[in-house]
Amino acid sequence: MIIRPRVQRLLLSRLLKILLVLTLAWTAYEVWSIRHALAEQASKEPPPFGKQRIFIASIHWTDERILREYWVPAVLQLAQDIGRENVFVSVYESGSFDDTKGALQELEDHLARMGIDHKVVLDDTTHLNEVSRERAEVGWVQMPSTKTYRQNWTDWFSLQKDEWVPRRIPYLARLRNQVMEPLYEQQQLGNVYDKILWLNDVVFDTEDVQRLLGTRDGHYAAACALDFKRAPAFYDTFALRDAAGYAPLTDTWPFFRSAESRNAIVYGRPVPVASCWNGMVVFDAKPFYRIVDRLAFRGISDTLAASHLEGSECCLIHADNPLSHEKGVWVNPNVRVGYNGTAYHAVNDGHVWPSSYAIMTGVWQNRITRWLRVFSTPDRIVEGKLRAAEQWAPDTTEPDKFCLIDEMQILLWNGWGHA
Ligand SMILES: *[C@@H]1O[C@H](CO)[C@@H](O)[C@H](O)[C@H]1NC(C)=O
Repeated sequence: MIIRPRVQRLLLSRLLKILLVLTLAWTAYEVWSIRHALAEQASKEPPPFGKQRIFIASIHWTDERILREYWVPAVLQLAQDIGRENVFVSVYESGSFDDTKGALQELEDHLARMGIDHKVVLDDTTHLNEVSRERAEVGWVQMPSTKTYRQNWTDWFSLQKDEWVPRRIPYLARLRNQVMEPLYEQQQLGNVYDKILWLNDVVFDTEDVQRLLGTRDGHYAAACALDFKRAPAFYDTFALRDAAGYAPLTDTWPFFRSAESRNAIVYGRPVPVASCWNGMVVFDAKPFYRIVDRLAFRGISDTLAASHLEGSECCLIHADNPLSHEKGVWVNPNVRVGYNGTAYHAVNDGHVWPSSYAIMTGVWQNRITRWLRVFSTPDRIVEGKLRAAEQWAPDTTEPDKFCLIDEMQILLWNGWGHA
């Protein structure tokens, strides 16, 4: 039997129509079932703090506005809700360009009046002091090329090729470890904490923290929020790695490339990841108390950094944490913090998040991006550099390379920059 061309065309157009209807029906069902699951997860009551002892840690630089408007009141409320016998607040600030010190001084005054254990360090050391001091043994790197900067408060200025500059990540790691010191001072006094809660300068409330602490009924090495600066795009791509070690595929929901992570977030469940920070993260405190190999913040070696590689101290801490393999690192998608009020309220507006429309576009964008990845060659820059460095400096290696990216981050007198 010979099918005439006209009939052939007709059949084809029928087929396409059927396919389109099926796709639409499938999408509608998918969006409905995802929304249903998300609504159920979001409606769960946050668990009470109970008798958990919580050590709150935070570092600050030039963030007076959010401190005064949101963060300081939120921390005071949180400390009160946890209960003063169960909380310690450790804060470090240095060299801010605004009155961050004033805002944190008010925090300290309130904490003292409320009888809450705390240590607030307001350090006069500036970034200018850091960059103009004599080069330290570690944590410095030579500029790979001459570069001109202009950031926020100043006119243009240049750094010359081969000039020695401090690296941003070892600097931040040092500050974070300094904020952890009161944990050990308290230990000497017989005060031991169950959880370490790291807070960025974000908008959050007590319920967010309760939800975060209650992730998987408290069974985790670490649990993180999601953080937003320009919602619906999430912010902290530097530290987030999915269960397969991949950086996020998209900066909007459902973010992830690995099926394990994606399937969890799509149904609003805790998301297994290799690493996360996202504005607010809680750690099981045990590894920070280990007598041998105590967990601490660090950067990658200067040798690796010199080959234009970098890794966030907020990612390396999970890579180094022996508990990560045992209890896992999780993102709790029901905890969403923002870097200002607009961002916070956009993702906490009392409705199911994300919206049906965002679910529909999100699942398809993610799907199509993954399909297209099949055809593109994977980026081997980081692996190549890592292998090269291992050849001539074997002791600089990073066993968990998922934190590494092809960047060089340096401290500048008025902030930081990419070299
Ligand atoms: C919050 O931040 C976003 C992105 O930086 C900005 O567009 C928005 O205007 C900010 N909102 C407020 C209230 O400052």
